[in-house]
Amino acid sequence: MKPQAKLIDGKKTAKKIKDELKAEIAAIVDEHDKGPHLAAIIVGDDPASKTYVASKERAAKSIGMTSSTYTYPEETTEEELLAAIDFLNADKEVDGFIVQLPLPAHIDVDKVIERIDPAKDVDGFHPMNVGKMAIGQPAFISATPAGIMELLKRYKIETVGKHCVILGRSNIVGSPMSILMSKKTNPGNATVTICHSKTQNMAEIIKTADILICAIGQPQFVKGNMVKDGAVVIDVGIHRIPAKNEKGYRLVGDVDFDEVVQKASYITPVPGGVGPMTIAMLLKNTFIAATKKLS
Ligand code: GUN
Repeated sequence: MKPQAKLIDGKKTAKKIKDELKAEIAAIVDEHDKGPHLAAIIVGDDPASKTYVASKERAAKSIGMTSSTYTYPEETTEEELLAAIDFLNADKEVDGFIVQLPLPAHIDVDKVIERIDPAKDVDGFHPMNVGKMAIGQPAFISATPAGIMELLKRYKIETVGKHCVILGRSNIVGSPMSILMSKKTNPGNATVTICHSKTQNMAEIIKTADILICAIGQPQFVKGNMVKDGAVVIDVGIHRIPAKNEKGYRLVGDVDFDEVVQKASYITPVPGGVGPMTIAMLLKNTFIAATKKLS
């Protein structure tokens, strides 16, 4: 049997980061009597959003942060949401906050993101933070790309001079990932190609990837025969597919794990790969926002 890829364990790494933060937060609480405070705004009843925000709140509390969630009904107007953002921008007790996406269709997402104080934008979605990241200035970097960079760093994956192929060009993952991997940094310093819905010869391009980052939103899209021997494969996707088990479903990524694990040198599993890192990096950003205010 062929050797299998090594697993990049996001769950274990996220726990390590949270433990590191917990110790640092304990020291801050000792000195200032107050831990970092992360707030979240959620509009509407999307069950996935509610689950995500509940996990963020649980994780924040588990490391000694204060966490608060502001829930608004689906029919909340854009003005009301902007007023809620103004309130959190001004609240000295809150170090960082997020507005959970997606928002109801009648609300302009760009307007909402631009209203967040960039110093409290721990999601790293504000154009000021995206712009600073793009020119290599200190900025809040959105949690999923930051989590992937952290995994590459902690697993000492060689990225310098490598061909990094990114599937997907979203503002949250593909686009920032392409910027970070092309920067004169380590990890980074890679030659980057982004593939998207209009890309021609996608299969040929994927085959040339030393590092393949999959954020295309299609379950098990990347098959074993599409991947170069020894590639490092990072799977950002998370999908439910029907399964004959108690729950009636199982979670899979954008990568056909059982096939690609036979070809890759490193691979992130789903679940337990990139997902847990996202929350850990959001907490890290909140910690940074709080310490910046103290200094
Ligand atoms: N919806 C899905 N992922 C995210 C995220 O990282 N931040 C926010 N605010 N909403 C999301």
